[in-house]
Amino acid sequence: MQTLLKGRRVGYWLSEKKIKKMNFLVFVDMCRKRGIEMVQLDLSRPLEEQGPLDVIIHKLADLILADQNDTQALLLVQSVQDYIDTHPETVVLDPLPAIRTLLDRCKSYQLIRRLEDCMKDSGWTEDDAKLEKCQSMWCPSRNGAFNRKGALQFQSIVDVPILKGMTSGTMIGVLIDERICSPPFMVLRSECGTDTLKHIQKHGITFPFICKTPNSNSHEMAIIFSEEDLKDVKPPCVIQNFINHDAVLYKVYVVGEAYYVVERPSIRNFPSGPAERKPIFFHSHDVSKPECASDLNSRANVEGVSRVPIDEVIREISRCLRRALDVSLFGIDIIISNQTGQHAVIDINAFPGYEGVPEFFDDLLSHLTSVLQERAFENTSVVGGQPPAAALADCGKPCMLLGNEANTWIVEGDCVKWGGNQGLGCDSEVSANFQQHCVSAIPTKASSQ
Ligand SMILES: Nc1ncnc2c1ncn2[C@@H]1O[C@H](COP(=O)(O)OP(=O)(O)OP(=O)(O)O)[C@@H](O)[C@H]1O
Ligand SMILES: [Mg+2]
Repeated sequence: MQTLLKGRRVGYWLSEKKIKKMNFLVFVDMCRKRGIEMVQLDLSRPLEEQGPLDVIIHKLADLILADQNDTQALLLVQSVQDYIDTHPETVVLDPLPAIRTLLDRCKSYQLIRRLEDCMKDSGWTEDDAKLEKCQSMWCPSRNGAFNRKGALQFQSIVDVPILKGMTSGTMIGVLIDERICSPPFMVLRSECGTDTLKHIQKHGITFPFICKTPNSNSHEMAIIFSEEDLKDVKPPCVIQNFINHDAVLYKVYVVGEAYYVVERPSIRNFPSGPAERKPIFFHSHDVSKPECASDLNSRANVEGVSRVPIDEVIREISRCLRRALDVSLFGIDIIISNQTGQHAVIDINAFPGYEGVPEFFDDLLSHLTSVLQERAFENTSVVGGQPPAAALADCGKPCMLLGNEANTWIVEGDCVKWGGNQGLGCDSEVSANFQQHCVSAIPTKASSQ
């Protein structure tokens, strides 16, 4: 292994602040001890002179967000993208188009909605339905999917992508993963007017709802309780139904195939439906950091035992996101509805701080090692012929999202489309370093082996 890593060159770029906060030089040292050459990238100099690079690890998110108004930042990010384009053999953790998707709340929520659709296991036949494998039936003649009690679950075929184009009169069952839900959301681009209420109701938004800035770098939020409060909404913003979740947030930190779940405080429950109360304005870090003790964190109105996240659901969500965006270093914020027990993804962060993840550097090193190994394997096997069988292997169930080509999803405007794959292909189902993780304030790690 050591021989394989020797001489490999990994470029890294993180802001000085992030390097200090994460103590990243400890990781650089760990890599060097294993023979990996770690190159701190200087974006003010041509990257070509700093290469060749087998892998780039970066936290360019801040620069990408700045780049809309800041020419200097724009040029720096462009120089990285140019290097990546000229060197498709360099693996980027993580690809810049994916980072842009994660920095835009609306794009992230669109993506989550599509993923949830795809996590609905579909394509069951009528026979499967008879065997009670499915919970919902597609009935073309009635143009809808109905659950066992006959209630309409999908009105439009568009909601069930796999069924698009289906014309036969056969009933098709759709097994719905009812353990996940995507809170209704929409973007408000201009000041609220007389028809706003109708408009938001059409999108399934109900009171109370939460307002967030379109870019995920701002953490100022508001909770809106009634029509009266609509004047306090500051567009442009993304609004999303407020889900009562007993004031508990689960932060999932993903490092390749490994993930950790950390429990954090969160916002308290509110009665559902319109209420005569003033909007609440808050900064997200005042309600969800480990040490938070705001009035908004009150658990006074929590009844019964809080629900804990289901590991299989967390694993599936992180696996789907990894494969859909070809990302490996990200965080997912999940809340669990106290009404339905469903898991809702409310935020996805690129290269988070991994606070409270004690073995982050070990996991990062093991992920980097497998990326370098995979890359070395691809390089040797593609020479003079077919790509290796493993590179073509089917990724297992969630990979049905992507087919065998491991393409990635790019969210542009209102549409989600396939983009090219940059960097890693599908990772195999069974991996030596796969880890299963437990939920706690201080996460512990176990092996699935
Ligand atoms: N739909 C929702 N229903 C209920 N509470 C929510 C919802 N969305 C967000 N919250 C609450 O607001 C907090 C901040 O939300 P979110 O994670 O979207 O903000 P953020 O500023 O992007 O966070 P981060 O610091 O992780 O980047 C959450 O931790 C949770 O307490
Ligand atoms: Mg968050």
